[in-house]
Amino acid sequence: MDFRIETVPPEQRRPKPTDESSLGFGKIYSDHMFTMRWTSNGGWDDPAVKPFANLELSPASLVLHYGQTIFEGLKAYRNRKGTVNLFRAADNAARFNRSAVRLDLPEVDPAIFTGAIEALLELDHEWIPRSHGTSLYVRPTMVATEPYIGLKSTHEALFFVITGPVGAYYPEGFNPVRITVSDRYSRAGPGGLGSAKTAANYAASLKAEKEALARGFTQVLWLDAAERRYVEEVGSMNILFKIAGTVVTPPVGETILAGITKDSVLKLLGQWDVPVEERPITIEEVLDAHADGSLEEVFGAGTAAVISPVGSLDYKGRTLHVANAGTGPFAERLFNELMGIQYGTRPDPFGWIHEVAPAGMGGASVSG
Ligand code: PLP
Ligand code: COI
Repeated sequence: MDFRIETVPPEQRRPKPTDESSLGFGKIYSDHMFTMRWTSNGGWDDPAVKPFANLELSPASLVLHYGQTIFEGLKAYRNRKGTVNLFRAADNAARFNRSAVRLDLPEVDPAIFTGAIEALLELDHEWIPRSHGTSLYVRPTMVATEPYIGLKSTHEALFFVITGPVGAYYPEGFNPVRITVSDRYSRAGPGGLGSAKTAANYAASLKAEKEALARGFTQVLWLDAAERRYVEEVGSMNILFKIAGTVVTPPVGETILAGITKDSVLKLLGQWDVPVEERPITIEEVLDAHADGSLEEVFGAGTAAVISPVGSLDYKGRTLHVANAGTGPFAERLFNELMGIQYGTRPDPFGWIHEVAPAGMGGASVSG
């Protein structure tokens, strides 16, 4: 894929983080970004890799007033061969386009979506951290840029991709998180935006998350907006319950993001012959399973969150401790298997890894 490329001169490249143990998530950005502009008359134009810089936007841009925007999140891992493993990028490209359709934004050619990421990896591979548990997070985004204060769908858009080195998403690191179930706020409703990766869903969650944090919980578990009974997902990951040997998880639908990590977990469980039920599950069922001792583990799955064990679950002021508030063996096995595939230390039977070999990275050359 040929893009216009403007590189940052070597002497102006920013220093890479030296302490990878304190990377956290989302605070550091690599030297380059990708941008491409769209108009309804001309289609996509001027794909370019350029220095990471502030955007210039009219204060009247539609995205700033009506939230017409979508994004994706995926990761690139430094593997043992000295090349880069990009995890399930084609699935992120497909989901990005499903979000685009729902938000009435233009779709992006999946070859350009992945080509843009590869071009950034080529230039910024030194930003991919080296320690286990770290990776380069990739954030493709589209915003409605047409300046217009009336409510309508945009005729101009900007697609951009930024990247940055990350470690653990949650302040707990890769340790169990404390979650509270929201019985007051809703994240998404039927016919709404819940299955799209769009800013509004996250904006809807912020107040609840702040209140949860003030009460000592890291995340909020959302229930369905109509009855506040059925478990949906956490603000940054899908949720799975292991009850009496069976993994139960809410089905993907209009109000839940179709997580690529959860899909990967379900495919691994199929391979391991673990019974799985994708079906509606009420919060009462979870409480009952805890009461009768059959709730073995609860864990979240997401790109940023990886596999995140839930140690405590709070509902209406009652806190359940799951797996002795620790990491259950099952979540740990999944975490190790998934990370093993992502870092290339374990086989990739599903073809999830797209290997990229940036020139000058010093690894073996690869194809495909
Ligand atoms: N649910 C929400 C609301 C999310 O933001 C995410 C993260 O992307 C997920 C679920 C997990 O999706 P994935 O595994 O594709 O990252
Ligand atoms: C991701 O996991 O990639 C996400 O987009 C979640 C976000 C809240 C960081």
